[in-house]
Amino acid sequence: MAKLKTKWVCQNCGYETAKYIGRCPDCGSWGTLTEEIEVKQTTQKPTVVIDDTPVCLINEIEIKESIKFSTGFEELDRVLGSGLVQGSLVLLAGDPGIGKSTLILQTAGNICKKGKKLLYVCAEESGSQVKLRAQRLNVNSDNLYVYSQTNLESVIAQIDNIKPEILVIDSIQSIYTSNITSSSGSVSQIRECTNSLMDIAKNKNITVIIIGHVTKDGNIAGPKVLEHMVDTVIYFEGDKYKSQRLLRSIKNRFGSTNEIGVFNMAENGLEEVTNPSELFMKERTDNAAPGSVIIATNEGTRALLVEVQALVGATSYPSPRRVSTGTEFNRLLQIIAVLEKRIGLNLSKHDVYVNVTGGIEIDEPAADLGIALAIATCYRDVIVDPNCVIIGEISLSGEIRNVSNLEKRIYEAQKLGFKKAIVPKQNKKLQGNFDIQIIEVARLMEAISACVSKK
Ligand SMILES: Nc1ncnc2c1ncn2[C@@H]1O[C@H](COP(=O)(O)OP(=O)(O)OP(=O)(O)O)[C@@H](O)[C@H]1O
Ligand SMILES: [Mg+2]
Ligand SMILES: [Zn+2]
Repeated sequence: MAKLKTKWVCQNCGYETAKYIGRCPDCGSWGTLTEEIEVKQTTQKPTVVIDDTPVCLINEIEIKESIKFSTGFEELDRVLGSGLVQGSLVLLAGDPGIGKSTLILQTAGNICKKGKKLLYVCAEESGSQVKLRAQRLNVNSDNLYVYSQTNLESVIAQIDNIKPEILVIDSIQSIYTSNITSSSGSVSQIRECTNSLMDIAKNKNITVIIIGHVTKDGNIAGPKVLEHMVDTVIYFEGDKYKSQRLLRSIKNRFGSTNEIGVFNMAENGLEEVTNPSELFMKERTDNAAPGSVIIATNEGTRALLVEVQALVGATSYPSPRRVSTGTEFNRLLQIIAVLEKRIGLNLSKHDVYVNVTGGIEIDEPAADLGIALAIATCYRDVIVDPNCVIIGEISLSGEIRNVSNLEKRIYEAQKLGFKKAIVPKQNKKLQGNFDIQIIEVARLMEAISACVSKK
């Protein structure tokens, strides 16, 4: 009988230690170490295997074109970097109930329709539960195999039997390998199972999609530990109480991570939103309110129009509050400093809240001018022309700096029927024919006089 050994494993980052400590020395989180039992391997000397793969000169290596195939969803393909790569390992993570299984089942349906064989391992649900969902989503195919199983070795046996081209594991937290005795969902199990799945992907050239839950408490391992093991990490996000869903890749070995995909959760499944700006503009209730500004942000290959809202009010705290949702906090502080210094707005006794609607996270400075105008108009109780889109970065001296892909942003505004665009002053003529009035501004004050008016 093998000897039982226990160890303490940080459920956040996977750090291991022999005895309990309150704070993980690796990632710094408190109380995340839990005890895990592991079967000690019998102390036989491991047999040394020497691999005879040759060492190559870089200019002698032949490039193998990676084969990509479509998921049937343009929005998903774009986030993946124009489709799924054969033999890759993709992690789809998201909050419980957000719609991960729905997205993957619909994707599975699309892929199977094109003749590819797919094995869907539902470790959390019974076959009939999956069948019920499939009926609701109108997914049906002779190539789609469903296997309700939590044991990885049984899954591997079925892979050899069915020989699928794509394998889906729903979810990694509920699957376990018999090689180790820790309970499923523990960091050791997740890491061990993912390692085996990586082997399957690379050695058998099967595309593996694993679903992972993100949980707020530290007890169950989140996909954080997985991120460095897999090829691609995609997050599926959204407000559970709203129908809009966002796909975002945070790591991709085969494409850019700037792209986002937008879906709408409807009665019979997820629908692609090919023009998200339109959707975000529809959510706009009051067109001309102080503190409301439309900006054009750039997400990967496309421009998106979103609304920025600011609320500025006298503070009742010893030091005023600054809260930003969807924008970078330090950027907000900098914009407030510029507003105070360059146009004399006295915000030192005011709370400032800034919110980007539609659940978009803006991390580019091109939103600066829009955020500044939202704050300034709310403070002065005036409005920005509701037919106007605001684009520009603000320097510390209050100058408006140029932004990337300006033409694309203006074009998006024009497409959605906006009449005016406030843009940074250009040194050269803008490329393209625009039906929209373009106002070039060099300083913050110029922008304000170009588009701000009384209510
Ligand atoms: N009968 C239904 N009609 C419409 N929408 C439904 C129906 N059943 C489920 N949904 C939607 O699907 C969502 C659940 O989707 P799904 O099971 O794919 O999520 P998940 O992320 O896989 O969840 P889990 O974490 O439980 O695995 C629900 O939150 C709901 O919005
Ligand atoms: Mg699910
Ligand atoms: Zn840790």
